[in-house]
Amino acid sequence: MLRRLHHEQPESFAFTQANLEWAEGQIAKYPEGRQASAVIPLLWRAQEQEGWISRPIIEVVADMLGLAQIRVLEVASFYFMFQLAPVGRYHIQVCGTLSCMLCGAEDLVAVCKDKIGPEAHKVYRDGLFSWEEVECLGACSNAPMVQIGKDFYEDLTTERFAEILDAFANGEVPTPGPQNGRYGPEPKSGLTSLIIPEDERNGLNASAQLAVALGETVARIDGTQPVASAQVINTPRSGGN
Ligand code: FES
Repeated sequence: MLRRLHHEQPESFAFTQANLEWAEGQIAKYPEGRQASAVIPLLWRAQEQEGWISRPIIEVVADMLGLAQIRVLEVASFYFMFQLAPVGRYHIQVCGTLSCMLCGAEDLVAVCKDKIGPEAHKVYRDGLFSWEEVECLGACSNAPMVQIGKDFYEDLTTERFAEILDAFANGEVPTPGPQNGRYGPEPKSGLTSLIIPEDERNGLNASAQLAVALGETVARIDGTQPVASAQVINTPRSGGN
């Protein structure tokens, strides 16, 4: 796939004040002359703020790091985690690697084509949705799965995935995590060791609990959000993925 800057670009880009302070803190971590090492964190925070990487973002980051713009573009175009075109409010990343492919990823892509639009990396439904197929997201034991915003939706069927997309379209945020009743990545037939008693479970694994508590899966990061680690969830025992 060609990775190049989008044909339509915004006039300018500026970090919010809070994100600027955060970015300067990242740069300060590196010894004099090594500020280029902050290029990925800065690009990532810019994407979290704006949703995608535009030419003005590349220019601003290059200026901040004292780099040639082409060096920043090289990084942004090399790593597929950087979106080089606008994405929908709900950007669906369908894992298409082996475990997910064997468990039905192609069927999930068909749902995307049916309910969102035929082409990956295009924004449909008045800016609400876009989708793409991505490489392994590290939740292979809960295949097939998708990432939406910051959250994983795992153990999907086409029916459940379609319901999730409908829920997002209605402004709801469905509960992430396994969608087939599994707690985490345990065998479908249940745990045989390290068993967590039913009365010690909170219903959702720790990752899903945190996602529900934060409840901001697609929120843009302007730097004013509470730090996730500060929102400790009271759970008698951690478990899950
Ligand atoms: S193969 Fe899909 S998460 Fe690893």
